[in-house]
Amino acid sequence: MAATRRYQTCGELRIEDVGEDVTLRGWVHRRRDHGGLIFFDLRDRYGLTQVVANPEESSEAHRVAETLRAEFVVEVRGVVRERPEGTRNPNLGTGDIEVEAVSIKIENEALTPPFELTDDSDVDETIRLEYRYLDLRRERMQRNLMLRHKVVKTIRDYLDARDFVEIETPVLIKSTPEGARDYDVPSRLHPGEFYALPQSPQQLKQLLMVSGMDRYYQIARCFRDEDLRADRQPEFTQLDLEMSFVDTEDVLNLTEGLFVELIEAAGLTVREKPFPRLSYAESMLKYGNDKPDLRFGLEIHDVTELVAGSEFNVFASTAKSGGVVRVIAVPQKADISRREIDDLTAYAQRQGAKGLAWMGLQDEDGALTARSPIARFFNESDLQAIAEAADASVGDLLLFVADTEEVAATVLGRIRNRLGDELGLADPNVSAPCWVLEFPMYEWNDDENRWDAMHHPFTAPMDDDIELLDTDPGKVRAKAYDIVMDGYEMGSGSIRIHQRALQNKIFEIMGYPPEEIDVRFGHMLHAFEYGAPPHGGIAPGIDRIVMRLAQEDSIREVIAFPKTQSGRDLMFGAPGGIDERQKRELHIRTIEAD
Ligand code: AMO
Ligand code: AMP
Repeated sequence: MAATRRYQTCGELRIEDVGEDVTLRGWVHRRRDHGGLIFFDLRDRYGLTQVVANPEESSEAHRVAETLRAEFVVEVRGVVRERPEGTRNPNLGTGDIEVEAVSIKIENEALTPPFELTDDSDVDETIRLEYRYLDLRRERMQRNLMLRHKVVKTIRDYLDARDFVEIETPVLIKSTPEGARDYDVPSRLHPGEFYALPQSPQQLKQLLMVSGMDRYYQIARCFRDEDLRADRQPEFTQLDLEMSFVDTEDVLNLTEGLFVELIEAAGLTVREKPFPRLSYAESMLKYGNDKPDLRFGLEIHDVTELVAGSEFNVFASTAKSGGVVRVIAVPQKADISRREIDDLTAYAQRQGAKGLAWMGLQDEDGALTARSPIARFFNESDLQAIAEAADASVGDLLLFVADTEEVAATVLGRIRNRLGDELGLADPNVSAPCWVLEFPMYEWNDDENRWDAMHHPFTAPMDDDIELLDTDPGKVRAKAYDIVMDGYEMGSGSIRIHQRALQNKIFEIMGYPPEEIDVRFGHMLHAFEYGAPPHGGIAPGIDRIVMRLAQEDSIREVIAFPKTQSGRDLMFGAPGGIDERQKRELHIRTIEAD
């Protein structure tokens, strides 16, 4: 590494280098003036090296050192010395040595940064994003960007070794149906016409399969105008891949091998191999969502039938009206405090539940009893049956939600995640990837009164369910799969439809009029008439993978120049206005926002 440089990095000098003449270049990290001696740490991407300016050795270097301030860029020539006993720093790779300056040249001075560039400083994100180039000098951010590089490099090596070809696809295309709003770009040459930025290269990768490329991938930028969250950006990066002549099993195996390499390369442990597989229905039942965090248990159980005849009216009436009663058992929390329960209940209500019933299971003289406001409604055998169904025993806390299936699942799923977090049940150094399979093909869109594709309309239905397309579309399951890790959906994919007739039918079920099918998807349908191989693929989100591997809570921490929650780039000040001449050229006129 150093062989290509005529100077040393701030991370490489060791005790073996003592006596060497060296040249270091970097930023002044911290300076300490000890009367006679001046010490400062010089920093670059590779590390920190302590420099000492001793007036007795070089009065010139000492004079310059007196003028140094944080973030000045300097070149230091000097000699490597062993640090005196008692002043070594075992936490630093270069901690056994220091460089005694012979000369110091200031390459550039620096204003005082608007925030401290240390990792422990808690700085408002707005300022960090406005001065992102300074924020990226912090060690943590540099580590994240280097991990991201390593992830992408691992991906490229893995796929290259398996005959994949990296192919770029255009960014100025046409609307793609991934479910979000498009970013549109006005055309200067074609008045009144617009390109759309791809929400993903979905159609292009399928067309590459029609071209016979067999195995394609791309580190692809995707654009979606949707509500932003900690794990969503308006532009983000996917590992987009597609393979011909494969079935679900092939895509799962390939992806699984890659994820194991990525997780292990980041120094985390994979909890279970091969990755557990859950059907969508099972995931919704046991974890309350389709992106379960499997690093801990706290599974949800259905006890509707057991409590349907109970005297506790909330349970009985919910069961009677077609709702469900679901429960999670929290180990060793039977003695939960009133305040904790009130907090959890308020949380459950904010998530849409009507209440949160609870029981602390206890042993009273050999009998199972409940510490609970609703204890009187349940005798010992009721409690035993509930405890058994909930996989609970004496000492555990049971939390119940009675509601519609959707509310009960969602609320308990969120309580589960919250408790997992609060009770520290998830080991941050362990990763628990899993597959969620057998998604429904469609979800009903009440606003528009039509079926929407749950994944996207190019996804093939499961063979066993094809007949249901005509009779009961809501019951059709898709050949779709999600790779989920530690509570995040990391990637989605499916086996695709490769025959025109079926593809057409899917669009029809979704209520697209024939003219619109033709305008929007004519190119795909037509391509399928020229010999499209069976194919399938997946697209893991690189930002989310790196976020988790870096143990960050937001993808903004692993993107060099991200946008805020409201989609702004604070450094550039984008989006911004354009002048009237540009608008005229683009044939657009803006109207006042309401
Ligand atoms: P999907 O829309 O599920 O599938 O996206 C796949 C993965 O991309 C990531 N992702 C995002 N990451 C950051 N910010 C966003 N706004 C964002 N949206 C999505 C997630 C997600 O799992 N064409 C299909 C894939 C296929 O069928 O092969 C697709 O794009 O990690
Ligand atoms: P109440 O009968 O309204 O006093 O409620 C008794 C207990 O049941 C309280 O702890 C409530 O939080 C809880 N509760 C009320 N409604 C529900 C519900 N739909 N699901 C679960 N618990 C509930």
